[in-house]
Amino acid sequence: MDEPANDTLLPYEWPGSYYLGQEELDAVTKALESRSLFRFYGHDLQHYADRLEEAYRARLGREYALAVSSGTAALSIAMGMLDVGPGDEVLLPGYFWVSCASAVVRAGAIPRLVDIDDTFSMDPADLERKLGGHSKAILMVHMSGATGELDRVLEIARRAGVPVIEDVAQANGGSYRGRPLGSFGEVAIFSFQFNKAITAGEGGLVACDDRALYRRAVALHDLGYPRTDSGRLDAGDPETQLWGFGSRIGELTAGVLMAQERKLDALVSRMRLLKRRIEDGLAGVADLRPRRATDPDGGNGSFVILIWPDQLACRSIVHATREAGVRTGEHGLNNLTLEEWGLHLYYNNESLVNRRGLNSRGYPWRDPANAFAADYAYARGTLPQADELFSRSSLLAIPPSLSEDAADRIVDVYRDAARRHGLAVGS
Ligand SMILES: Cc1ncc(COP(=O)(O)O)c(C=O)c1O
Repeated sequence: MDEPANDTLLPYEWPGSYYLGQEELDAVTKALESRSLFRFYGHDLQHYADRLEEAYRARLGREYALAVSSGTAALSIAMGMLDVGPGDEVLLPGYFWVSCASAVVRAGAIPRLVDIDDTFSMDPADLERKLGGHSKAILMVHMSGATGELDRVLEIARRAGVPVIEDVAQANGGSYRGRPLGSFGEVAIFSFQFNKAITAGEGGLVACDDRALYRRAVALHDLGYPRTDSGRLDAGDPETQLWGFGSRIGELTAGVLMAQERKLDALVSRMRLLKRRIEDGLAGVADLRPRRATDPDGGNGSFVILIWPDQLACRSIVHATREAGVRTGEHGLNNLTLEEWGLHLYYNNESLVNRRGLNSRGYPWRDPANAFAADYAYARGTLPQADELFSRSSLLAIPPSLSEDAADRIVDVYRDAARRHGLAVGS
């Protein structure tokens, strides 16, 4: 691995990217040499996409996995699999990524915001309050490496008869009470975009256990129809005569991901170890607590979220630690207050706050089938628990390539900044 070019304490951004090596190079070379870059047929197809899907089926213990072009595409496909459309709402937490909301709107449905709790995931009590006759799906987003009250969310969903989509984009390789994240919901989606635990720059995946749902996913991710064994489009089955998103994965991307997938468990072990070390090191800072873990061993370890006593402490301590070198570079996003975390916070999504439509007719917001949602709100103030947590929490990314020494020095810098701010710091 090349050493990063700068000398800050947190020099590594984009976790998986540092582990792009000979294995990925070999896969890409082989795909090029075979002149077979399309996943469904070619001169001498290497079947990288098939092999990546096989690896994820085994990893997740699921019946079906489908590699796609991105996590955003995977979310749209998930909506299509579950027949989400006008007249429906999809419940999602206020700590998310813009793609979570856009997939719902693109489906012609309405996003319904659910508050978060101190796990930084959906608050089951608020979910229960908000579930209603229009609720078509629950999007449980495992943010910043870990899930929250997953058992309770699954139980509420089961009782209401509403399917759960797990968004595992930020928690790839994580687990919950002994089972991999992505093995719980009716549908699960993943992203392999550059910031993720493993990456090919772009890429995504959809997983499920139901054959009919899978066949819909295959048709939706392609041109609207499934394919025959020889890779030709098969328009003969009325159940899967759909409209496609054009979101196939290519063999170059799949080859890189196949090689990266083999490294995922080692990367996750490393991130978990470093995360624990940093959280343990900060345990003596009075009135500081990490995000609540519903499974302390389960997250993929990619982020520490710190909840400070108040907004001033949060802002000034993060600022001081950045000044002292805990940063990726001039503009790095590895050590920041959550307030700076852009489109991960519901109220920063202007298209959502302003109910922007997909076209000049304001669809789907102005569709009569969606009149039920006329008073749904999206501006800051809609989710009081989320607002309060965002205002005094910070986020520290844990690159697997960090040394233990550097992790200890980051702890020292944080402890020092907390002490200077006036917090009691014990051993
Ligand atoms: C929670 C979450 N969902 C979905 C996505 C979308 O993934 P992609 O960037 O591959 O479209 C991302 C990542 O960027 C994400 O963080």
